[in-house]
Amino acid sequence: MSVHISAQKGDIAKVVLQPGDPLRAKYIAENFIENAKLVSQTRGIFYYTGTYKGKEITVGASGMGFPSIGIYSFELYTEYEVETIIRIGTCGAYTTDLKVFDLLNVENAASESTYAKFAWEIDEDIISHQGNTFEIINQTAEELSLKAKSTNIHSSDIFYRKDPSVPAIATKYSCPAVEMEAFGLFANAKHLGKNAATILTVSDIIPTHENISADQREKALRPMIELALEAAWK
Ligand code: HPA
Repeated sequence: MSVHISAQKGDIAKVVLQPGDPLRAKYIAENFIENAKLVSQTRGIFYYTGTYKGKEITVGASGMGFPSIGIYSFELYTEYEVETIIRIGTCGAYTTDLKVFDLLNVENAASESTYAKFAWEIDEDIISHQGNTFEIINQTAEELSLKAKSTNIHSSDIFYRKDPSVPAIATKYSCPAVEMEAFGLFANAKHLGKNAATILTVSDIIPTHENISADQREKALRPMIELALEAAWK
């Protein structure tokens, strides 16, 4: 057991798929993982471990934002000997060059957040994916004939804001989309020497307010889930 995860030591696989939403973790476990066993449900943050094509895999949620993914990913890496975390989430596009349902493989996450600085004395405001999982995802996407665009993204602390214009950091680092967790995950993995990647599905186009409806989400997220599972299996 760790402070926020009640699984036993051996109950978490070396590779973890991490959606933000606990119910998405449950959906993936029930529909894509064989013999999925619920190993932690502290605070309603579900973790399931089972197998995918014979390989042990865990799927469990991060919650929203850096504080939450910072806690769960740190405990997974340090208390459960997890080597690789693949975040699978959604993002908002700052530009109509991206379309809803587009898949992104995050190369670097840029943020105004002080998380990396105060947690690990990492002073950069942009942090790369860690290890070779990013490359495995690109290669797997090609094999599955899926288009996963390699890109920088803005990881923000803020969902609602006064000024609707694109934040300066997103312009500075050519980030066409925004989410709220990758920078925290990459910071933890960088500090600990672990592997971390983030795959995102564009769920909304911020300037036009177009979005994937709630009933489209399950189907919309399928390619991302399949890509993450196939990459995790390698
Ligand atoms: N902002 C931040 N995170 C998000 C968004 C957004 O517009 N859409 C999906 N995740």
